Amino acid sequence: MDSILATAIMAAELAGTKIKHYFHNFDSVQIEYKGRNDFVSKVDKEAEQIIIDTILKNFPNHQINAEESGIKANNSDYKWIIDPLDGTTNFLHQFPHFAVSIGLSYKEELRYGVIYNPISQELFYAQKGQGAYLNHQPIQVSQHETLENALVCTGFPYYKFDYLEDYMNGLNLFMQQTAGVRRPGSAALDLAYVACGRVEGYWEFNLKPWDIAAGALIVSEAGGLATDFAKGEGFLESGNILAANPQFHQNMHQALSSVTTRELMV
Ligand code: 2AM
Ligand code: CA
Repeated sequence: MDSILATAIMAAELAGTKIKHYFHNFDSVQIEYKGRNDFVSKVDKEAEQIIIDTILKNFPNHQINAEESGIKANNSDYKWIIDPLDGTTNFLHQFPHFAVSIGLSYKEELRYGVIYNPISQELFYAQKGQGAYLNHQPIQVSQHETLENALVCTGFPYYKFDYLEDYMNGLNLFMQQTAGVRRPGSAALDLAYVACGRVEGYWEFNLKPWDIAAGALIVSEAGGLATDFAKGEGFLESGNILAANPQFHQNMHQALSSVTTRELMV
């Protein structure tokens, strides 16, 4: 296996083991408050340190952009984009749906993505041009094309409510026109679930790069499209993401455009 991919998987599994330990020994976890609806615990911080140590041991010159410790900039073209615990709110409520998410870009192009749920022990990963995998078996997005009978997932706005009405319009539409909408609480796993065809599509506003970098690559390597709301590649900058199989992506985009303020779709 490619040495970058092997390092990313090792980092995700080591961090996942730490997270799982705290999940089962929850009394020792104290919660800090970062901002409105924004929590962090020693679990996030320790898991992140494990990931960074594992990466820098193998690739000491690479750049790091991680949720809890920020950017360690240098002039390397390799940038690791790390969310040690995506779904912290779930974790803190003992709701077993969260993951480690590790992406790597080279000259700003996503090249690697690894997402690991330590509770279900599902490991999703992709390398640019090499396909996407779940526990080492190839995965593909679903083939289902129409809103009818589709299952979609999303994340509700939780700290920035400027576009709440637009969001609710989209939710309203998908609630009425699909077979169901899920709000599981981890953007990384939402994307992983699109990649393996458990849901047809996923949309969310205002995410951070570490929530979606790994998952976006896994979706595209599984045959899907992960874009911003203008069908472009700016999702890491805007934080707005729409991911689905290609035909369903088009239908979802059309549906969202019909009920959403134009400025949000560009
Ligand atoms: P996090 O757990 O790493 O912060 C889901 O909407 C996404 O938003 C998750 O990937 C989650 O990533 C992030 N998020 C941050 N705070 C949240 C909150 N209070 N409620 C829901 N999601 C939150
Ligand atoms: Ca996150």
